Amino acid sequence: MAKTNTIFVCSECGATSPRWLGRCPSCGKFNTMAEEPVAPPSHTGAAKGTAPAAPRALPLSRVEYRTYERTPSGISEFDNVIGGGIVKGSLVLLGGDPGIGKSTLLTQIAANLSQNHRVLYFSAEESCSQVKLRTERLGLSSDNLLLINETCIDGLDAELDGVEFCVIDSIQAVYTDDMSSSAGSVGQVRECASRLMRLAKSRGITFFIIGHVTKEGALAGPKVLEHIMDTVLYFEGENQENYRILRSVKNRFGNVSEVGVFEMTDRGIIPVTDYSGIFLSESRGEEPGAIVTPARTGNRCMNVEVQTLISKTSFGQPRRMPLGVDYNKLVLLLAVLEKRCGVNLGGFDVYVNVMGGIKLGEPASDLAVCAALASSFFDKPIDKFTAAFGEVGLTGEVRAVSYAEKRVAECVKMGFKKVLVPAKNMKSMTKYMDKIDIVPVLYVNTMIKSLFKQQ
Ligand SMILES: Nc1ncnc2c1ncn2[C@@H]1O[C@H](COP(=O)(O)OP(=O)(O)OP(=O)(O)O)[C@@H](O)[C@H]1O
Ligand SMILES: [Mg+2]
Repeated sequence: MAKTNTIFVCSECGATSPRWLGRCPSCGKFNTMAEEPVAPPSHTGAAKGTAPAAPRALPLSRVEYRTYERTPSGISEFDNVIGGGIVKGSLVLLGGDPGIGKSTLLTQIAANLSQNHRVLYFSAEESCSQVKLRTERLGLSSDNLLLINETCIDGLDAELDGVEFCVIDSIQAVYTDDMSSSAGSVGQVRECASRLMRLAKSRGITFFIIGHVTKEGALAGPKVLEHIMDTVLYFEGENQENYRILRSVKNRFGNVSEVGVFEMTDRGIIPVTDYSGIFLSESRGEEPGAIVTPARTGNRCMNVEVQTLISKTSFGQPRRMPLGVDYNKLVLLLAVLEKRCGVNLGGFDVYVNVMGGIKLGEPASDLAVCAALASSFFDKPIDKFTAAFGEVGLTGEVRAVSYAEKRVAECVKMGFKKVLVPAKNMKSMTKYMDKIDIVPVLYVNTMIKSLFKQQ
């Protein structure tokens, strides 16, 4: 294919330059200039000197409503996360650490889909025999699943006849001849992704695209990659542990708070539908510093254990190390504990960990973090069948949270005996009164008193 002209565009500020520069002269950022092809002249719209084209914009009432056709992927947890099935013609990006199981998950989905549809697996990272080996290990086979080992996506168009679903493994490994930069560079990733988008929208093909993540955990490549996609999913988990969590961070066709839990086995990735108990430790309740909180994930709730550890600071500055809880939120809660509850952790290093690699992003987990920290401070364990949830304000008051009923229902289901809830949520709790001991909490310090001082 003939080479087209290229320019270098700053991925931060959009400044252009005819040649590569280490530092953008406009915004001063380093290493942000990425090569891009010069856009061909537009063919739409009226040419100079001809009559203007008729306007095509329609009033809202005359726009025809189109329902999205959804296809089940054969893995219920995956369908849940993407909003109830795969939408035809959409672009789904799956990011995750190396070796977490991205290719395995999408091979399974491709094989499931190929029972009724034609599916192409475009593997730029592994040879066809490697992919076949995996499908055999997972016990999958289908003649409708086509494999190709290729890195240049210029020829992809010709392979897509009759194909309804296509997996690209991975976007960082493919390249187009239109650009001279190497595969994985910002320009290549952006150009390949826009090409896939055009194919998806013009031919109604659904693309599952695998993306690598950087050391910081963000998707490698330009931010525009995530803008182009309809759905962006992250596959997370500790490599040593078998549980994997699928999280949606962007979804044009559904809720983004839904989470899917999977187990990595030698037979592939198996969805875990009954995950009650898997985010709780065996020795819960024996040692100080841990409590369970019912966390909301989309439309469901799951009980997750929050663990804390404090140790005397050896060097000047005390360390705060939260895993699964936001750093700033932890600092804020420590300030509330110190000022409003007399739990002074200023001279201690504080470590917080949420079991199973779960991320507690919602304010409803504040109260559990405070209770766990206080338990560490007083060196008194909290009963293993006690849970807590509620948002903590700077004044030390405990605010009402959403989904309170569902959270309590989850605690009842799992046989918990006591749950500390925001006093302002008590109205909706009447039907659970006889099933579990519900303790209303108005201020954090009253909760701490009831948990530790009167034991
Ligand atoms: N023979 C096997 N038996 C059991 N588990 C295996 C076997 N081969 C691979 N695995 C599991 O599959 C994981 C690799 O999965 P996969 O190749 O899907 O990951 P990936 O996210 O696509 O990785 P990459 O980023 O390298 O492409 C390994 O970490 C391992 O846990
Ligand atoms: Mg892979």
